[in-house]
Amino acid sequence: MYTGLKHLHSFMPYLLLTVLILALLKSFIAYQKNQKHTEAHRKNGLILLILAHLQLTIGLVLYFVSPITTSAFSDMGSAMKDSTLRLYALEHPVMMLIAIVLITRAYSKSKKDIDDRTKHKVKWVSYLIALVLILSKIPWSVWP
Ligand code: HEM
Ligand code: HEM
Repeated sequence: MYTGLKHLHSFMPYLLLTVLILALLKSFIAYQKNQKHTEAHRKNGLILLILAHLQLTIGLVLYFVSPITTSAFSDMGSAMKDSTLRLYALEHPVMMLIAIVLITRAYSKSKKDIDDRTKHKVKWVSYLIALVLILSKIPWSVWP
């Protein structure tokens, strides 16, 4: 199970990052051009949300079965002094979680009764921050 989930968690970022960057550009352009928030815009946000929630679910399972994190949990004190262990046991999950909360919040707001320009703004700002957080805590030494 571990190997399969690890491969899935390693493949999903290609899709997730592509969809995130496209959604960011689309909502930024729509904001600039004062476009309506259409059903297509809502669906873009939904696809991104589903990919993010899937990645979160797989990540949560990996967190408890991965040999990297389980070895970190056996001695958290020394793990916090090791930059690789600290990345997997703390920084990566926390930052990715914040990014996923931002993506989810942007989708929720886009369903609310607020004006279309605000919807596009909440989306592009949230997506931009989420992108920066994700890129900052991807384990670049092992990925892609
Ligand atoms: C936007 C969300 C996320 C992205 C883009 C992401 C991306 C990645 C990438 C690229 C790797 C390296 C995979 C490899 O070795 O080839 C990784 C590893 C890992 N991620 Fe995530 N991740 C996300 C969310 C999470 C979350 C929310 C958790 C935990 C709650 C998590 C836990 C882990 C763990 C434990 C590993 C190490 C697995 C191992 O090598 O044994 N990830 N992640
Ligand atoms: C730890 C796992 C998960 C957590 C904590 C979580 C949390 C949430 C939350 C809080 C929302 C509400 C967003 C809103 O206000 O509209 C939501 C919506 C949603 N989630 Fe998840 N989710 C998880 C896993 C998944 C998985 C595995 C999937 C499917 C692949 C999924 C698909 C969805 C979809 C489609 C919606 C949007 C429903 C709508 O149209 O309003 N989630 N999730």
